[in-house]
Amino acid sequence: MKHLFAKKPLHILLEELTGEDRLHRILGPAALTSLGVGAIIGTGIFVLTGIAAHDKAGPAVILSFVFAGIACIFAALCYAEFASMVPVAGSAYTYAYATLGELLAWIIGWDLILEYAVASATVAHGWSHYFQNFIGIFKFEVLPQFQRSPVDFNPDTGHFFSTGTYFDLPAIIITIIVTVILVKGIKESAGFNTIIVGIKLLIVLMVIVVGAFYVDPANWHPFAPFGYTGLSFFGTPILGDVVGNAPVGVLAGAAMIFFAYIGFDSVSTHAEEAKNPKRDVPIGIIASLILCTILYILVAAVLTGMVPRDQINIDAPVSAAFASRGLGWAQFIISLGAIAGITSVLLVMMLSQPRIFLAMARDGLLPKSFFGAVHSKFRTPWKSTILTGFFVAILGGLLPLRILAELVNIGTLFAFVVVCAAVLIMRRTNPLAERPFRAPFVPLVPILGILSCLLLMFSLPVENWYRLFGWLAIGMVIYFLYGKHHSTMREYNKSKSDSQLTEQ
Ligand code: ALA
Repeated sequence: MKHLFAKKPLHILLEELTGEDRLHRILGPAALTSLGVGAIIGTGIFVLTGIAAHDKAGPAVILSFVFAGIACIFAALCYAEFASMVPVAGSAYTYAYATLGELLAWIIGWDLILEYAVASATVAHGWSHYFQNFIGIFKFEVLPQFQRSPVDFNPDTGHFFSTGTYFDLPAIIITIIVTVILVKGIKESAGFNTIIVGIKLLIVLMVIVVGAFYVDPANWHPFAPFGYTGLSFFGTPILGDVVGNAPVGVLAGAAMIFFAYIGFDSVSTHAEEAKNPKRDVPIGIIASLILCTILYILVAAVLTGMVPRDQINIDAPVSAAFASRGLGWAQFIISLGAIAGITSVLLVMMLSQPRIFLAMARDGLLPKSFFGAVHSKFRTPWKSTILTGFFVAILGGLLPLRILAELVNIGTLFAFVVVCAAVLIMRRTNPLAERPFRAPFVPLVPILGILSCLLLMFSLPVENWYRLFGWLAIGMVIYFLYGKHHSTMREYNKSKSDSQLTEQ
């Protein structure tokens, strides 16, 4: 029992940083910020904004972005504190190991699969929407059987329905391409990422600047047709309305577009590859998040100002808005830019997942021979990259975007809650540890982070809670069958207590 809550001491984490078989240190502050932006701006803003405005919040989705952005800033400050203290690859998983003990660390590591691998599947879907929108400009189309996932979800009835298709082929193809790039190595990937991030920022700026000329303020009325809240507790509405059993309103919209912010924390999974992690990782996390928050609020304002709420397209809303105003050239540029931008998200997300597995394998919680294997030539965790690719391709090919996105959101919000709590705990247990970056106003900031993330979790349809519990239960079974028996901390604690006994 004691072992389940064994913590990984800070000094061990720091000692490990000097060990053999580490990843190359090649990323500076600009590259890290670019990785952050690369992971953030993608399917969330380009696709989910449409769904959230159409079904959940109306033009008040602008406020949804403000709320979700603020929640993320609280969490980002906590991530930044940890990332500067323990600059290793495991992100929230490592932070939990140092503060909350092995079992919770495992739970978070397992939960992060939702944040990275399942998010990648969601992102691959978004890529497919824009790809199909783009080739549609030239009157091409993917064969109907391969255009989307075989099932989808109707928010009005709250039921799944068959789409009559087999799978989403473009989503699978892009996943395979990204997997191959990642197996080859991070250096190439980071360089490629920087170029795509530049293109993506230009496209977003174009949407804002050009779109502003086509805004009709009448479209902003009524501003919040579904209300300003949207909160339920395990199926019982607490604030605001429900449609088909799901809360609607500004908070419910925020819980959906929260997806658009995911990714800033992936900067912390690259801490091991940072040249000066203690300074550059906090910069990367906070700079990328603030930049994206501002851009998102403006994009949401423009999109809802350009198109009446009930006419917003839910597959490729941003490019469709320009097409509906007869701006074919803009539709061309936006869908091309979205394709490039979403590719970079996929790249960073799929780059992060194997690094978390790597950290877990080093601790013995996953088989080292597989998840800990670093390729001798490319220096990448290649086996787990390929496994991640398989998982992402299957989910992305078969499950609907909306369902995947909500699952990712609840999983990520849960991880954020734990990281905020871990900062509070670490300040008590290790008050003197070196903290090159300190989250301001502790305990207020972590507490507000916890509360705002919990609020968003309760604004998601209740099924997501059950899916999260189901996922975590599977994780627990794996831990008790494997991790518990192979943990390196277990060995460490055992040899420590043996030597104490010998001394006595
Ligand atoms: N924030 C990322 C996106 O929106 C995951 O695609």
